[in-house]
Amino acid sequence: MKASHQLAFFLLALLAAGFGASRLSSRESPAKPVQKAATAPSASQSQIERGRYLVEDVAMCGECHTPRDANGNLDRSRWLQGAPIWIVPVRRTTNWSMRAPALAGFQGFTEAQGETILEKGIGPNGLAIQPPMHIYHMSPEDAQAIIAYLRSLPSAYPQR
Ligand code: HEC
Repeated sequence: MKASHQLAFFLLALLAAGFGASRLSSRESPAKPVQKAATAPSASQSQIERGRYLVEDVAMCGECHTPRDANGNLDRSRWLQGAPIWIVPVRRTTNWSMRAPALAGFQGFTEAQGETILEKGIGPNGLAIQPPMHIYHMSPEDAQAIIAYLRSLPSAYPQR
């Protein structure tokens, strides 16, 4: 291929990828983040959007924390509402967790607890997060964005 052709091809591929990505991000999701002033006064809309992107497109938290329908597809009407773990360990392990808790609304966690989970992999009980949840080493900015997004979602638990 001539260099100019190569360049044209590269640009075309880039354009196609960009188009695909923009289509992907404009996809309607039933659990669109709604900002709740009472719970997240300092979270900006762009921070929430960054958190949504990290949760949905990068870390794929929903794969474990969202229940599935009868066909095994993620049930978007119960987005991040907690789910049983269906993957099994390859090797025997003692601390495998069988349930991923609800994340929508992020109730029951303080900001600091949330950050420690996502930045250090340590839970509020002081113990390492159990597999198959990963031990993340996120930056504070990423962890805060994810927490802001989770707090913006309708809570998994009805208000008592
Ligand atoms: C591979 C499956 C999986 C993925 C992906 C996953 N989690 Fe988890 N998560 C779990 C399981 C299982 C638990 C329960 C284990 C525990 O609490 O130690 C858990 C626990 C948690 C907890 C509670 C921890 C505690 O100690 O109370 C939070 C918060 C959490 N996950 C957030 C997230 C976020 C945010 C993401 C995406 C960035 C994510 N998880 C991705 C499986 C997963």
